[in-house]
Amino acid sequence: MKVRKAIIPAAGLGTRFLPATKAMPKEMLPIVDKPVIQFIVEEAKASGIEDILIVTGKNKRAIENHFDSNPELEQDLEKTGKSGLLKLTQEITDLGVNVYYTRQPYPAGLGDAVYRARSFVAGEPFVIMLGDDLMKDKVPLTKQLINDYDKTHASTIAVMKVPHKEVSKFGVIAPDGKIAPDLYNVKNFVEKPAVDKAPSDLAIIGRYLLTPEIFDILEHQKPGRGGEIQLTDAIDTMNKTQRVFAHVFKGERFDVGNKEGYLETSIQYGLIHPETRDALRKYIKELGKKL
Ligand code: G1P
Repeated sequence: MKVRKAIIPAAGLGTRFLPATKAMPKEMLPIVDKPVIQFIVEEAKASGIEDILIVTGKNKRAIENHFDSNPELEQDLEKTGKSGLLKLTQEITDLGVNVYYTRQPYPAGLGDAVYRARSFVAGEPFVIMLGDDLMKDKVPLTKQLINDYDKTHASTIAVMKVPHKEVSKFGVIAPDGKIAPDLYNVKNFVEKPAVDKAPSDLAIIGRYLLTPEIFDILEHQKPGRGGEIQLTDAIDTMNKTQRVFAHVFKGERFDVGNKEGYLETSIQYGLIHPETRDALRKYIKELGKKL
């Protein structure tokens, strides 16, 4: 079956970015001039995804407005002859993918947010894309997972080697031999292990391709780490009855889920954005001399 559907969980409270996220969704924080969630939706589209469900919560209306049209703004841009900006604005509404929304009423964990998508997924294989990581590679990471699925028809989770002292921030896999150059069999999936207990340095990085049986497991999933329903725990259970592979990502990953990563990503993207790259490069060089 073709993989056509994506879930983007976006219900988190964004406490790492307070006070900026007191009344604004963290998914709307811009990288130069584009909100983080638009990068994720564009990755989905570039990977051949047709239907996206964004799982939102309170204070997340701005996300819906962003992907909707804004006739007043569009009229104004047209009247004032700003055709480039008009095109940019309209392209977001005419992405060519269907975007749906549902709400997670309580912050009960990633597994609970994903479970909200059960009837949307309706028995098809699907992907989950987390908004805290932006991925860059020749082939989008979500498409890489879909390409794996087309060969194996099995669930596949994206992982990446991270510095050992950082493993406790992630779900981590215990690899069990390779079946292809970038594809591991997995013994266990462990959510945020202590650094000295981690089975490897291969961390789950926010792109998952799953078969729909995950919902039967999530339905009965008990709270795990932090008292939350953990997606990683459900994946570990599923791995006991059907294969769940780990795909090692070799591209670049930008973690926009914390302040330092967000600032670094803004600089990196500012250095390639045609409107900012020259001035920013000059500024950074001069700043470097002073620091
Ligand atoms: C979630 C997952 C974790 C994964 C991480 C990737 O954690 O629970 O397994 O490694 O995303 O970003 P969170 O960052 O939401 O705490």
